[in-house]
Amino acid sequence: MSKSPIDGARGLTTRLRTAKGRTTASQRWLERQLNDPYVRAARAAGWRSRAAFKIIELDEKYHFFKPGARVVDLGAAPGGWTQYAVKKAGEQSKIVALDLLPIEPINGAIILEGDFEDEAVEKAVLDALSGQADIVMSDMAPNTTGHNATDHLRIIGLVELALDFACKVLAPGGTFVAKVFQGGTEKTLLDRLKRDFAVVRHAKPPSSRKDSAEMYVVATGFRG
Ligand SMILES: C[S@@+](CC[C@H](N)C(=O)[O-])C[C@H]1O[C@@H](n2cnc3c(N)ncnc32)[C@H](O)[C@@H]1O
Repeated sequence: MSKSPIDGARGLTTRLRTAKGRTTASQRWLERQLNDPYVRAARAAGWRSRAAFKIIELDEKYHFFKPGARVVDLGAAPGGWTQYAVKKAGEQSKIVALDLLPIEPINGAIILEGDFEDEAVEKAVLDALSGQADIVMSDMAPNTTGHNATDHLRIIGLVELALDFACKVLAPGGTFVAKVFQGGTEKTLLDRLKRDFAVVRHAKPPSSRKDSAEMYVVATGFRG
């Protein structure tokens, strides 16, 4: 992958002076945020989330964003991936972003709020797109329950749902990008991806935390 946006960043460590009123978990989260060079780099560059670097790094490696690309961004809040989509595809293209959570407006993107597992919400995304897409990307991650088997099934369920949707709307040659966990995609999902796309790759972008099981599947060349 290309030169990292954090190359050369100074490694200053911030320790919080007082943990008064904070739980240990929130204290740890806050310290990690304060000391994370990607968080700082995102803030400096105007990205709404450090997650923006993940799609940037994936695109720099596989070159799937083109000017004018029509994009659906699932699980888009707070909007880093959507900002990148607008920047690369242009404000005149069609970019539809959806999340369970509200997203502050982004010029050039249609923002929707709702649960993608709800058929009416999927229909709203289809209506907003009103045609085919060149890229369907999903950074959706369910809240974990702590029960590994349940969490795994929920994650796979969301990826399958995103893939079903991608197969409905992608134009031939289109790209599907999705967050997957633990060693990539399930065998059945992988077989399906290989059948429907010319090239299927897995990648862990450098900005994805090493201690997270998260990785991404990038499937290009939708066969239609
Ligand atoms: C890692 S965050 C996305 C970060 C985003 N890519 C960015 O660049 O700012 C994952 C998002 O998935 C959303 N999500 C999880 N399940 C969802 C669902 N069923 N429908 C819509 N959004 C969902 C969460 O609300 C959360 O905001």
